[in-house]
Amino acid sequence: MIEEVAAHYSGGGGLAEKIAESLRSAGKDLNELKATDLSTVDEFHIRGRKATLELAEQMKLSEDSCVLDIGSGLGGPARTLVEEYGCHVTGLDLTQAFCDVAGVMSDWVNLGERMEFQQGDATNLPFADNQFDAAMTIHVAMNIPAKDKVYEQARRVVKPGGIFAVYDVLQGEGSDVLFPVPWARDPSISHLATPDEMKVLLSDAGFKILDVHDSTDESQSWFEARTTRMAQSGPPPVTSQVLFGGDFREMARNQVRNLTERRIRTVSYICEA
Ligand SMILES: C[S@@+](CC[C@H](N)C(=O)[O-])C[C@H]1O[C@@H](n2cnc3c(N)ncnc32)[C@H](O)[C@@H]1O
Repeated sequence: MIEEVAAHYSGGGGLAEKIAESLRSAGKDLNELKATDLSTVDEFHIRGRKATLELAEQMKLSEDSCVLDIGSGLGGPARTLVEEYGCHVTGLDLTQAFCDVAGVMSDWVNLGERMEFQQGDATNLPFADNQFDAAMTIHVAMNIPAKDKVYEQARRVVKPGGIFAVYDVLQGEGSDVLFPVPWARDPSISHLATPDEMKVLLSDAGFKILDVHDSTDESQSWFEARTTRMAQSGPPPVTSQVLFGGDFREMARNQVRNLTERRIRTVSYICEA
């Protein structure tokens, strides 16, 4: 199962060079990049950087905070936190290729010194008890059947009183999810919890849920705005197409239908350890 998930995200190799080439073709100078220049590919979740900033606002972060990003992908959310708050972020991700590229991209924007990325499994975190001041996870648990383990592990590594911010795609009340979607080409690696299940999972792991925000309507609007923007001014320099090639358009179309028909919901949880 884990191998299939990592294979789904690994792409065809040479990812850093593909991203660099897309940016150069769009006239970007790689020596002058800002984290926001990367956000159309490295904030790899619905509502992008805006959603990360919304979570971060509630995580009680300062320059002294040590934060864990569980399922850090290409490192976009982690870089956003470092850029905005000057904190230190450790990113952990199942996909080795993503960890490698995340490190390279952080150096492009001169944030590498305040972050590191390591390969690992969210269900078995290689960190000490109470190691982090806060943690987050964005659009990751959709690939993980053992969600109880993910949240138990998060609770174990976050200091008491620290914030754990979760933003995920959940199973909606509409019918079955249409595939392919960015987290799975078919149902074999897709494991969505319902909103009711999430509350139980987080509480059972020992978290106090401070806030729940269902952003499904905003997610729908975000896709509509993106479609309008792309029709007017073309696609941005680099998108997740670099990962998924020709399947990307169908994945995006299915995301819109899945949201509109409430086959999926996007929900975030701010929890206290
Ligand atoms: C849709 S991406 C989101 C990446 C990042 N959180 C973001 O929002 O930009 C999902 C990520 O979850 C990672 N992932 C899936 N299962 C995992 C697991 N068991 N442990 C750690 N990471 C996992 C994948 O490798 C992928 O990078």
